Amino acid sequence: MILETIVTTQDRDGRPHIAPMGVHVEKDALLILPFRPSRTLDNLLATEVAVVNACDDVRIFAGCLTGRRNWPLAEAERIDCPRLATALSHTEVVLERFEDDAVRPRLHCRPVHQAIHAPFAGFNRAQHAVLEAAILVSRLDRLPWEKIERELAIHRSAVEKTAGPREREAWDWLMEKIRTHRRAVHGP
Ligand SMILES: Cc1cc2nc3c(=O)[nH]c(=O)nc-3n(C[C@H](O)[C@H](O)[C@H](O)COP(=O)(O)O)c2cc1C
Repeated sequence: MILETIVTTQDRDGRPHIAPMGVHVEKDALLILPFRPSRTLDNLLATEVAVVNACDDVRIFAGCLTGRRNWPLAEAERIDCPRLATALSHTEVVLERFEDDAVRPRLHCRPVHQAIHAPFAGFNRAQHAVLEAAILVSRLDRLPWEKIERELAIHRSAVEKTAGPREREAWDWLMEKIRTHRRAVHGP
């Protein structure tokens, strides 16, 4: 199973970094697969720790993809690494095995501590829609425009029907980024 999470890391000088990552859940490990180049990859290799944050504020996913990375952080408990202050729960991990790859290395991480901070409120379709749109935005250079438009049309209706203010704001950031990209590549 893949969980869409926010992975927090820091470099050797303590500069934090946050990035949405689809984390693969294995029997005793969490597998993080960053595409090169990646600060998450560099930081994890340098410090050998990370925090995998479960988070329902989809503005953080959309924000990271649209240049808004300044989200409140707190200290992890067992490792020297920041975690998201607003995470519903977080898992602190240490790097156990590194499988290098020219495109997408595999970082096998062992959970060493987990904490729950707030209840899971239930599923929301607009949150899912924002995640799908954020993934499209992360692949704007690689996807055909028709596919982006087709998928956005499907997800837009979930936002219109079920979003709250956070989901609407996140969706608007992503749509603005897509419009800018479209103008740059395809003209007005
Ligand atoms: C829901 C979601 C899941 C993502 N999963 C991954 C992933 O597994 N690996 C990856 O390299 N990028 C993933 N991305 C894109 C990264 O978050 C984005 O490209 C980021 O800047 C990664 O580079 P960084 O480590 O330098 O921040 C995902 C984006 C979203 C919205």
